[in-house]
Amino acid sequence: QQTGRLRHRHVLVTAGGTRERIDPVRFISNDSSGKMGYAIATAAANEGADVTLVSSTTTLSAPAGVEIVHVAGAKEMLNQMQHRFAQQDAVIMAAAVADFRPVEEATQKIKKTADNDTMTIKLTKNPDILKTLATQKTKQVMVGFAAETEHLLANAQQKLTDKKLDMLVANDVSRKDIGFNADNNQVIILRPNQEPEKLPIMTKSELAAELVDRVVTLLPGK
Ligand code: PMT
Repeated sequence: QQTGRLRHRHVLVTAGGTRERIDPVRFISNDSSGKMGYAIATAAANEGADVTLVSSTTTLSAPAGVEIVHVAGAKEMLNQMQHRFAQQDAVIMAAAVADFRPVEEATQKIKKTADNDTMTIKLTKNPDILKTLATQKTKQVMVGFAAETEHLLANAQQKLTDKKLDMLVANDVSRKDIGFNADNNQVIILRPNQEPEKLPIMTKSELAAELVDRVVTLLPGK
């Protein structure tokens, strides 16, 4: 329902798994479908926000009333976010950003040869987008996710602090019924100096509305 609590507010949302190129026909990525991020962009738009959705490749269609920016790798995602960051009121990062990318992207398809039974691809660390943006933060409410397969709370708590976030959404991605690609999700919300808040399982659209609801309360002037 359009209640308009985010009218005149700018919200930057990311979605999908970044694609880190090996050569013109291959890449490294992950299982993110983009559903969580697209649902958040939709929920923010439903609240009347000016939403920019920075999305890596997905099969989803752009939500109505949302500006969509298509990217591939993490460096391109950072680049597209950086020059939009200053005017944002909130940044919500649901994208599954690859921590590493190939050191070199081959210009032609890498061929197998008679004498190479194994091959090695050297990886280098990608920039941490949330940490980079945190250094430029003025007024922005910063929300990140943590996708974990073990020690969910401890790892999520670490990311909340490390990335200097206002809110972190901890997501157990070891389960098939929630997390990557599922239509439902179940998360724990962490805020600095507050008890973790465990939400029940719900659709990603319902969760998106819950998250946007909390972002509204964190905005200065609200
Ligand atoms: O897309 P779906 O199929 O709907 O699945 C949703 C989801 C599981 C991808 C989503 O709910 C989720 O958990 N997204 C975060 C995935 C992730 O990259 O988690 P992380 O724990 O590796 O990263 C922590 C946070 O830092 C994330 O907000 C991430 O966007 C951000 N990050 C990560 C690496 C990096 N180099 N820069 C970043 O900013």
